[in-house]
Amino acid sequence: MDYYSANLKLCASVQSGLEAVLKREMTANGLFCEGAINGRIPFQGTLKDVARANMFLRTASRVFIILASFKADTFDTLYEEISVIPWEDIIPNGQGITVLAKVLKSTLMAPSSVQSITKKAIAARIMKRKNLTRLPETENNLVVEISINSDIVTVFLDTSGESLHKRGYRTYVGRAPLRETLAAGIILLSYWKDDRVLLDPFTGSGTIPIEAALIGNEIAPGINRHFAYESFPGGKEIFENTIEEAKSLIKDKQLRIYGYDIDPKAIGLAVKHAEGAGVSKYIHFQKADMRSFSSRFSHGIIITNPPYGERLNEGDIGLLYRDFFKMYESLDSWSAYILSSFKDTEKSFGKRADKKRKLYNSEIECNLFQYFGAAPKKTILKDSMAD
Ligand SMILES: C[S@@+](CC[C@H](N)C(=O)[O-])C[C@H]1O[C@@H](n2cnc3c(N)ncnc32)[C@H](O)[C@@H]1O
Repeated sequence: MDYYSANLKLCASVQSGLEAVLKREMTANGLFCEGAINGRIPFQGTLKDVARANMFLRTASRVFIILASFKADTFDTLYEEISVIPWEDIIPNGQGITVLAKVLKSTLMAPSSVQSITKKAIAARIMKRKNLTRLPETENNLVVEISINSDIVTVFLDTSGESLHKRGYRTYVGRAPLRETLAAGIILLSYWKDDRVLLDPFTGSGTIPIEAALIGNEIAPGINRHFAYESFPGGKEIFENTIEEAKSLIKDKQLRIYGYDIDPKAIGLAVKHAEGAGVSKYIHFQKADMRSFSSRFSHGIIITNPPYGERLNEGDIGLLYRDFFKMYESLDSWSAYILSSFKDTEKSFGKRADKKRKLYNSEIECNLFQYFGAAPKKTILKDSMAD
């Protein structure tokens, strides 16, 4: 039996603060997960599950196969344990590999030495078993990740390739764009449902409205991209089948999603990205100051990532937040989810958030400030993320 037809030990990585959202997504997708360790959520499954996880999970950063786990406090032990793994069955013929290492609180301290010892051990085993004189180098090498924490080594094989936040629609880089996985996470944390209005008043390159449109119409986040596992035996066929499954699930619901930005260039990018993601007909982008927004609908949801006041040209940020709050208060029964590192967000709003959650936007520590409007009569709240 080849390596990939067996049940595999797997895990999905996720940024700090979104673990519960990813677990909920995994369960909804029939992937049975157990606990969470250092931002990785373990689960078991076949190569088909690897493909489904890569295709359908909106908040996962990557999906890995866990190849081995052992204790090593010397380079000899590391070399021996790595040599026991059946690399000749795992790495397809003609495929190059890159080894990455992360080390924490361990005797083997230098990641670069861990990387080179590991690569040596892998190369020696493959060359011996396959009668080769050297390992090939390919444009898209498979990535083996070594994580050492308190002398416990875990060996991962990356099945995603490019990080999963790269959906394939963001071809132009805007100013301070939000990661797609984080945008999706905030939406999934919110009470937004496809029958409620969603507004991003500081939309920038449009990440939040685009991710909402993908969620609202059940468009898989990975539908426009490729994955590393496609080079595994049987991987291409499983990829094709997963794409077919993803296409069959797409809905065409009318959504009310709005994105405003004062910067015409940002709106230009947002429109292009929405077209790239195939969701432009579900979103109304407008070059406008958020102060001018009004709506006849009640129970709408604002989900946004305003300027944080960290750039010189952002003006009086306190005033911007005060005006934003005035606009928000003029809306009937709306809720607001504001991701910001601005320390005086609540002070400028003149009101404490109903709930806060610490999240990182790249390296910046932020809070998701959550202000809840009154619940609509038919209760949508039950299904939402209340942790
Ligand atoms: C942090 S960026 C948003 C990034 C966005 N989430 C993305 O993924 O690209 C903040 C945006 O707020 C916009 N902005 C600043 N003041 C505004 C105002 N008064 N009304 C509308 N947009 C404003 C800026 O032009 C900028 O694009």
